[in-house]
Amino acid sequence: MRIETERLRLRPWDECDIAPFAVINADPDVRRYYYPSILTPAETADVIAECDAHLRKHGFGFVALERKADATLIGGLGLSIAGDEIPGGPHVEIGWILGRHYWRNGYALEAARACLEHAWTRLELTEIIGYTSRINNPSRALMEKLGMRSDPTEDFDDTTVPAGNPLRPPVLYRVGPNG
Ligand SMILES: CC(C)(COP(=O)(O)OP(=O)(O)OC[C@H]1O[C@@H](n2cnc3c(N)ncnc32)[C@H](O)[C@@H]1OP(=O)(O)O)[C@@H](O)C(=O)NCCC(=O)NCCS
Repeated sequence: MRIETERLRLRPWDECDIAPFAVINADPDVRRYYYPSILTPAETADVIAECDAHLRKHGFGFVALERKADATLIGGLGLSIAGDEIPGGPHVEIGWILGRHYWRNGYALEAARACLEHAWTRLELTEIIGYTSRINNPSRALMEKLGMRSDPTEDFDDTTVPAGNPLRPPVLYRVGPNG
């Protein structure tokens, strides 16, 4: 999966992305809404390997996000088959993570819009979901800006997070080609 926007490039992961992506995944601010929180470099390498395997199997995936102006890896963003914990599946999920220094430049919105467009026009998907912790306001605001909508009747229990953890209650968003 390769997508270009005005300022950004979504492309398959490369060996040389492991070190800069490990820095992003070692930042507790960036990983505040993840369970588990920060990752070791070896765990980041495993994540990249899993994303690569997904991309090879399905033809789409969670890929590297590079800034074109200086070829810097600024994070990861893309599509993946969602886990079984989400009812009504299988679903294709959009997700993102950017290094703290790159936040609030409109990068995630620019890349995610192009990714959704790719899902509708190239992959001919009819729905994309997104989900995150109820308390992850930046991601929730981004999903809303992308035209994704949540329905409180679709609340489910995210069993990948331990009971009692404030990250456990998730909110599920959906969007289709026409909103
Ligand atoms: C969520 C995230 C990807 C947003 O990236 P970004 O490049 O800063 O987002 P953008 O600059 O494109 O912002 C787009 C919109 O998202 C919303 N948004 C982004 N950051 C926000 C914040 N800190 N607070 C509230 N809204 C926010 C706003 O609606 C924003 O539009 P606006 O700037 O016109 O108000 C980034 O904060 C991040 O990587 N967070 C940590 C990783 C994470 O939690 N991933 C999801 C795990 S489930």
